[in-house]
Amino acid sequence: MLTANSLTLPMLLAALPRLVAGRAALRRRLRDELARLFGVDARRIVLTDTGRAALALLLRAHGVGAGDEVIVPAYTCVVVPNQIPALGATIRWLDVSAATLGFDWSRLDAAIGPATRAVIVPHNFGPACRVPDALRLRHPRVVFLDDAAHGFASQCDGQWLGTYHDGAFFSFEYSKNLSGGIGGFALLPEGLAAEEPPVELGALDQLRLLATLTGHLLAARCALAGRVWLALARRVGLIYRSSDAEVADGVAHPPRALPTLSAALLLPQLAALPALLRHKQRLAEHYRAALSAVPGLTLWPGAPGAHWVRYPFALPQPVADKAALARRLSAACGLAIGVWFDDVIHPAGSFRHGYLAGSAPEGERLAATVLNLPMNIAIACDAALDARLARLAAALAAYLKETAA
Ligand SMILES: Cc1ncc(COP(=O)(O)O)c(C=O)c1O
Repeated sequence: MLTANSLTLPMLLAALPRLVAGRAALRRRLRDELARLFGVDARRIVLTDTGRAALALLLRAHGVGAGDEVIVPAYTCVVVPNQIPALGATIRWLDVSAATLGFDWSRLDAAIGPATRAVIVPHNFGPACRVPDALRLRHPRVVFLDDAAHGFASQCDGQWLGTYHDGAFFSFEYSKNLSGGIGGFALLPEGLAAEEPPVELGALDQLRLLATLTGHLLAARCALAGRVWLALARRVGLIYRSSDAEVADGVAHPPRALPTLSAALLLPQLAALPALLRHKQRLAEHYRAALSAVPGLTLWPGAPGAHWVRYPFALPQPVADKAALARRLSAACGLAIGVWFDDVIHPAGSFRHGYLAGSAPEGERLAATVLNLPMNIAIACDAALDARLARLAAALAAYLKETAA
């Protein structure tokens, strides 16, 4: 899957000399730049090694613990629910709405019970939404936390995602809007305080991060070069990824500080943010125009302020093997088609956290029908892109005809 949306290989190489500034200075600059962007005090930005660590930190800061219930969208990544049992709290799964990819507000209102202390508000694929004020007023004990892992720098009615609820967590992982390889941060609400994790990523893990990120960036230029690099890195143990215990056993992530390399990579991406957003907006327009021409597909409008992490589209009927279809479509058009989320608790086969099959029909249907296109600045908005999209549209139309027969 093509990742590192806003990062290029030259940017990675240019970041390396910047490491001499040292981790304290780089992190301070990153915190200050993020605070400037969001228009908040820098003490409200808490940097972490992952979005999931930022979620755990937010829940703790709000005092969520034993006996509390946290509402989690049943269309998310396993590392989100993983953070909750470790606090002694319980998970309540809530179906998402196929119309918005987020929550249906009346369904959320009805799901909040006496034990509910927190709601994780999804912003899947990036567009920002806002919990109605009346709903929040009806549940004054409940905190609404934005899962902004996909939606860095998205806006809802002119306000930055993360600034209008009770806190938010963001991700800078390989595949996200800005890429630090790994990384994340919590945006705390006013009046809440939290410390950055004191544990640093080890030197070998930083090397793994560099090797893995290089493979992803090579893949953006030449798929074969990227594959070869990543295969070699795998062979010598230099791939950085989530631990098996997190994915298969639902274990909480051990929080660490944002790596120095990540901070050095993120600063130039932040400086270029307006241009990045303009480029991705144009990409989304090309995607929308091409996919709108294929009858039967579902697209999501996304407000003008949406910073898409990947551009989703849904097929009219569930697909038995989405990965195989994504490979077939990628081969036809030369664009890396993705399969997020391939299960209500992504990735398929990960820990279930008590989820009962069939209890979130809309999330399950999305998991079986949604594919996505890359939002990557390495993809130029030109005639070559339109030719690829025309091939994608033809391949999709052929697939739909086959399956309708
Ligand atoms: C919706 C969602 N939330 C949270 C996360 C966690 O982000 P991170 O990988 O930085 O912990 C992910 C990860 O992919 C995600 O897809």
